[in-house]
Amino acid sequence: MSKVIKGGTIVAADRTYEADILIEGETIAAIGPNLVGDEVIDATDAFIMPGGIDPHTHLQMPFMGTTAAETFESGTMAAISGGTTTVVDFVIPDGPDGSLIAALDAWEGRAKPQVVADYSFHMCIVGWNERIFEEMQAVVGRGVNTFKHFMAYKGALMVNDDEMFASFSRCAALGALPLVHAENGDVVAALQQKFLADGVTGPEGHAFSRPPEVEGEATNRAIMIADAAGVPVYIVHVSCEQSHEAIRRARQKGMRVYGEPLVQHLTLDEGEYFNADWDYAARRVMSPPFRNKAHQDSLWAGLSSGSLQVVATDHCAFTTAQKRMGLGDFTRIPNGTGGLEDRMPVLWTRGVTTGRITPNEFVAATSTNIAQILNIYPQKGAILPGSDADLVVWDPKKTKTISAAGQRSIIDYNVFEGVEVTGLPRYTISRGEIVWKDGQNEAVPGRGKFVARRPFPAVNKALSTWKALTAPRLVTRDPKLMPVGV
Ligand code: URP
Ligand code: ZN
Ligand code: ZN
Ligand code: ZN
Repeated sequence: MSKVIKGGTIVAADRTYEADILIEGETIAAIGPNLVGDEVIDATDAFIMPGGIDPHTHLQMPFMGTTAAETFESGTMAAISGGTTTVVDFVIPDGPDGSLIAALDAWEGRAKPQVVADYSFHMCIVGWNERIFEEMQAVVGRGVNTFKHFMAYKGALMVNDDEMFASFSRCAALGALPLVHAENGDVVAALQQKFLADGVTGPEGHAFSRPPEVEGEATNRAIMIADAAGVPVYIVHVSCEQSHEAIRRARQKGMRVYGEPLVQHLTLDEGEYFNADWDYAARRVMSPPFRNKAHQDSLWAGLSSGSLQVVATDHCAFTTAQKRMGLGDFTRIPNGTGGLEDRMPVLWTRGVTTGRITPNEFVAATSTNIAQILNIYPQKGAILPGSDADLVVWDPKKTKTISAAGQRSIIDYNVFEGVEVTGLPRYTISRGEIVWKDGQNEAVPGRGKFVARRPFPAVNKALSTWKALTAPRLVTRDPKLMPVGV
């Protein structure tokens, strides 16, 4: 049975125009005027945009002595309720010597029966040895073309510069893209001990021990290592001007560097950690921490100017009870916040309705750029014939006040509690199926499909071609021009 979306305005990353969309099965069959289908989806007074892609989630992630409470089911339910139809989650091997393949199987086993949205994976590199080197190729063969490296979380997930260089070089050879959590883990660990010794045990100590310079330094270092290895690099959760500045400068030098701010860092500030209510502040503990307004302005400017390309959530949600593991020692508060359901409405409200970004830039940052960078365009991130029919019928007048009481997430709070949003999905459509309609989820767990991502032909080839052309070379000299007899 076909479906036709009628009466709406299509907002793509590159243009805005009026047309109907015909969906046959799971894909877009036609775009144009006066299309006819078996079922009509009304988009009067609404925008039709590509379904959102969240490139950064941690559903059910084992971390800091516990496991993120948000499941693949509740997390993807939250996603579709907010207009996001694809999530990309991070697979974490079991320790520095853990098998990548075993971890990928474990993540797949957890995700598959639960997901209501489509999903893909990034692989984390948390150690370095011969088997990891070998397994990276098999991981790429399984449709995972991105490898994440943590420069923070010393003693846990952190890798050192030599390990990053080795892994980045392997990525270059495989046509894969390295991702980096950029914070100087040694300095963070030292500052944590200093603040604890000074008696700062509350959540504010978390922010104090991770100042923007610590992030800026690591971002510069990651970019340098990527350049040395001849590979593009993607910096996750860019929270501050120092890190943005490093990315901006590298891009202007011709380096392929991508930057991902989170909706939280764009809209919430460090004052959250000074709240007198311990639970309130601890619920907002994540790395990097929220920053001040000047940093937020920098991130917004990055989105409109193109030096930052995508907006994610880093959805990694722990309950209040889990956050209390860090009572008396902020270093034990599980790091992470939620946002899957709220990313698109909050970004629209704070970005588009204020004029900071255009509707087209909104689509680029929440979907199209992500699909291009992760190499799933135009299957995802596009409204084109043949693309997956992942669409959101967006009602720019619809409003609500964000509240934990009304959310799909199973967490007992929401970091955006009380924020009034204007702009919400009327329908969310995933591969031709209406999964969210008039405030109701219509999706069955397990319906989501794995999105395999091929290695990158273009960017890595361009870089390696340029690297080869400009590489240091031996100078061959005419023996007649060599000094003799000395
Ligand atoms: O605090 C955060 N961001 N938690 C999730 C893990 C990570 O660093 O991305
Ligand atoms: Zn991170
Ligand atoms: Zn993360
Ligand atoms: Zn139907």
